[in-house]
Amino acid sequence: MRRALLAALLALSLCSACGAKPNPQGDSAEEDLIVVGMSQVGAESDWRVANSESMKAVFTEENGYRLLFDDARQKQENQITAIRKFIQQQVDYIVLMPISESGWDSVLQEAREAGIPVILVDRMVDVEDESLYSAHIGSDFLREGTAAVDWIESAYPDGEPVRIVHIHGTLGSTAQLGRTAALEEAVACHENWELLARLDGDFTQAKTYEVMTEYLARLSGREDVDVVYCENDNIAFGALQALEEGGYVCGSDGVNVVTFDATRNALLDCLNGRISLAVECNPLLGPLVEETIQAMEMGRMPEKQQYVEERVFTAAQLTTALIEERVY
Ligand code: AHR
Repeated sequence: MRRALLAALLALSLCSACGAKPNPQGDSAEEDLIVVGMSQVGAESDWRVANSESMKAVFTEENGYRLLFDDARQKQENQITAIRKFIQQQVDYIVLMPISESGWDSVLQEAREAGIPVILVDRMVDVEDESLYSAHIGSDFLREGTAAVDWIESAYPDGEPVRIVHIHGTLGSTAQLGRTAALEEAVACHENWELLARLDGDFTQAKTYEVMTEYLARLSGREDVDVVYCENDNIAFGALQALEEGGYVCGSDGVNVVTFDATRNALLDCLNGRISLAVECNPLLGPLVEETIQAMEMGRMPEKQQYVEERVFTAAQLTTALIEERVY
């Protein structure tokens, strides 16, 4: 830990006069490591698990890092507690995947006062002072949502009724805000689009299965739903299960399920026709975060906003080989 090394050197210079012994923490190899405190949202989705794995694969001792990884189990208060602990531990960098956008001003201010740069990953924060974080690395969620609504528009070109069930992710998270905004704007612009329901799937399969089963039980007829707009793959898996148990056919001849993430299992469902569209959200952000830290180590200002490239998939773009190559 380089901060510990500096502290030890300072202690050595202060104590040499009085003959006291310094108390270095760990051996010198350990002290050279860059210490990264990472606050992850949780493990709510396959995407999130892949994102954590991507970080852990990069921030290794062999690569010169000590990673202090904290899983907040879906609670912002746990993230705030973790950040305060990282500050006490005098880490070199804080990497934060914020669960939602609001509520970060004070704790990021504390990190700044401690001189610890904060890098945001995946989602954004809504803070008054943007200099409270050094960079944001992640997806453009509004662009993802726009790709999804463009596809819906192309799937229903003749002004026929499009009845949509919207199942959103964690309220107030950037992923939810961007994907929801794209859909709501498109619904407002298309007279033939009708939002039948807005359900909270919280980015998880179990919650979605529950709310969707309950919703379908209240519907009078099976033909009532044309599109289910699922704000991630795990929502889509829960919705598919509920729809199929309710006797619905999913695919181009029935309910078009639209999803975000494009993890391997969702792509398989896309290839077999159960999912009509999978919009990619790339979780493999570890290398980009590492590059950013390396740039900062060399005294360079990192690019403030770093969006990753993402694609969209329908069955037409997919092959088994492509899906097998996918690492998440
Ligand atoms: O913020 C990224 C989103 O969060 C992913 O779409 C989702 O799967 C995750 O839980």
